[in-house]
Amino acid sequence: MSKITTSTQWKQLEEKAAREDSSKIKELFSRDPNRAEKFSIENGKLFLDYSKNPIDAETFQYLVSLAKTSHLEEQKLALFSGKKLNVTEDRPALHTALRHPDQLGSLPTPPLREEMLRERQKMSTFVEKFRDGLLLGVTKKSLTSVIHIGIGGSDLGPSLVTNALAGKQKIKISFVSNVDVTELNKALMTHDLESTLIIIASKTFSTSETLINARAVIREMSSKLGKSEKDILNDHVVATTANIGRAHDLGISESKIFAFWESIGGRYSIWSSVGLPIALAIGFDRFCNFLAGAHQMDKHFIEAPAEVNMPTILALVGIWNINFLRRVTHAVLPYSDKLKLLPDYLQQLEMESNGKQINKAGQRLDFPTAPVIFGGRGTNFQHSFAQHLHQSPVITPCDFIAIAKDQQTPNEHQDCLLSNCFAQSEALLLGSDCESSDATKSVDAHKSFDGDRPSNTILIDEFDEKTLGALIALYEHKVFCQSVIWNINPFDQWGVELGKNIEGAIRPILAGGPGSATQNGSTRLLIERVKKLRS
Ligand code: F6P
Repeated sequence: MSKITTSTQWKQLEEKAAREDSSKIKELFSRDPNRAEKFSIENGKLFLDYSKNPIDAETFQYLVSLAKTSHLEEQKLALFSGKKLNVTEDRPALHTALRHPDQLGSLPTPPLREEMLRERQKMSTFVEKFRDGLLLGVTKKSLTSVIHIGIGGSDLGPSLVTNALAGKQKIKISFVSNVDVTELNKALMTHDLESTLIIIASKTFSTSETLINARAVIREMSSKLGKSEKDILNDHVVATTANIGRAHDLGISESKIFAFWESIGGRYSIWSSVGLPIALAIGFDRFCNFLAGAHQMDKHFIEAPAEVNMPTILALVGIWNINFLRRVTHAVLPYSDKLKLLPDYLQQLEMESNGKQINKAGQRLDFPTAPVIFGGRGTNFQHSFAQHLHQSPVITPCDFIAIAKDQQTPNEHQDCLLSNCFAQSEALLLGSDCESSDATKSVDAHKSFDGDRPSNTILIDEFDEKTLGALIALYEHKVFCQSVIWNINPFDQWGVELGKNIEGAIRPILAGGPGSATQNGSTRLLIERVKKLRS
């Protein structure tokens, strides 16, 4: 049994959760109609209303006390002072240093600090040249559009933020992530290749999907433009990576490599050179605003006591729902197309960080950790999976995310988005009894809603690069707080390795190489069937 589950605070919370009224939110509102004012918090231009959760003042105190007994304050300091928190990979997690607006704060220490400043400067110069039309392709046309190749943390962040912030910017950027050739072909067909910059983004530069796509794009460009692959590499290709050696091996010269470091996790790398497509799309100054927004959330996270700390509160609400009320799914529901990729981004952030079975002490965990994250944009999800959220016996806590003022969206559309957003959380909370006569009882039962379904609402006053930076940092720190309470390492991802190894053995067999399938009978059958169909 892990230590935290034997703590007084855990026991208090378990006892509280066992009470019959533990999940009744409506009752909390009838007892205190003003509870939204008490159970909400503001930071910068973000407002979090967590009052539609079954949390009263006592539960809240127990949760805060749980955070304290888990040494959250010490762990926060350890994160921000560069301690090696990623114990299984023997490295710190330095993503917060990257978004210090001026000189990276006091971290990291030299020589990494100088390297970070140098890379930031290199990126800034490159962005300026690109946006001024000074970078030329093999046919001497200015590079004006981008095909970005990467997957996981090397895709989800750049595509989320570029999609959210680029607006009507004239730079066309296509993101190619899957090794299925559809995205790649579409990009190759719709870009003027003479004026296209290729960014190959990969922390390890060994991810097979990314390398296959990278080699394919270089080959295609060479053939379509009638130039050598070497020329294409020289004039059209750059890399963002922590593995300079492997980028070299592909033929990319040092001046075209934008480095980041082992201590920056892939899903935390948006603040590094992995943010290059964002900066190309919106300019380096606005990219710095994005970093500054995240830094502002960092400051709040490090300075504010747990009771009034937005990421900590979001984490604790999650802990209550997951560990004590056993709600192990979680929906992310942004009411803005600007944030339509947020559910995918948070799926990796939360599930790859905290989807773990062993704690830092090497003990097997005896409680659920990261919930199953899924989601979609409002209002579209209302016409697909909302039914499940409202009436399934599986209760899914939701995060509603909405923009209060959005100048790019006409009032009629914006009002419709916001009223739907507020209506959904209200419906989940209140439910509705369908009064019925005996004759109609059986039908009316289908029309009833229990209510008491929990949700948070994050209202963004105004959407811009700063608020987006703050929003992403908010979730990063939420994930960190939960990892501290669960005592797990959120910065490794060993669970993705086994599948990669097995894939490495299967692909040569499918490719017709020597050797026969030695896998489990089911897998072998599938492999043999494909081979037979192909022969
Ligand atoms: O397979 C999972 C993973 O390692 C993620 O952690 C990472 O973001 C993604 O693959 C891509 O890795 P890379 O940036 O090294 O290509």
